[in-house]
Amino acid sequence: MNIIIRKAKPEEAEKIIDINIKVWKTTYKGLIPQEIIDKVQSKDEARIEKSKINIREKQNTIVAEVDGEIVGYQTFGQAHDKQFCNSGEIYTSYILDGFQMLGLGRRMVIECMKELVNQGYTTLITKCLVGNPSNEFHKLIGGLYIGQSTFEPLGIYVGKDNVYYHEDLAKSLNYNLKKSQRRK
Ligand SMILES: CC(C)(COP(=O)(O)OP(=O)(O)OC[C@H]1O[C@@H](n2cnc3c(N)ncnc32)[C@H](O)[C@@H]1OP(=O)(O)O)[C@@H](O)C(=O)NCCC(=O)NCCS
Repeated sequence: MNIIIRKAKPEEAEKIIDINIKVWKTTYKGLIPQEIIDKVQSKDEARIEKSKINIREKQNTIVAEVDGEIVGYQTFGQAHDKQFCNSGEIYTSYILDGFQMLGLGRRMVIECMKELVNQGYTTLITKCLVGNPSNEFHKLIGGLYIGQSTFEPLGIYVGKDNVYYHEDLAKSLNYNLKKSQRRK
């Protein structure tokens, strides 16, 4: 398997949205009502254009490319919650079925963390919907559970998120680098 972890290019916006939609359908089936999934996850020109602009201007999307195909992505930046406005946040982590649990998520986390450290962040939060088995991932990358917030994509209430905090981002980065190197 030839794996490349790198920044996304604007022309890859549609591919990334397709992954988002596909993984939502498998991950959140039974956790989020289907009509909400359909409402939140539709693809149109406006969404593609917005995503292209974000990728170009914010430079905050990391992709995992396997044998020339993008199979997952993560996005990062300043935490959205006012309460954590001095922290960085990894907003989204989505990998296609068949490519999960191979270490790609941690490798993308490492790239997001490096970018956030370079931007001057010293702490980090991540969030995961209550009931999603991926909560384990958030703990295993070094996050400490500190409470809950509401998950409201596009302003639509979906449920509660567990919030995970990294009080020493540089330390978490080193921890994940070691874990990832051990796996290779
Ligand atoms: C969550 C996700 C991004 C993690 O990426 P990944 O490549 O599968 O995870 P990794 O292989 O890097 O795993 C890192 C560690 O987390 C563990 N892990 C990952 N997903 C897990 C799960 N669902 N349940 C239990 N442990 C899990 C791995 O076993 C590994 O453990 P280790 O530290 O002992 O080696 C990916 O599984 C995914 O896209 N899942 C579906 C969508 C989703 O739920 N996204 C998160 C939304 S908050």
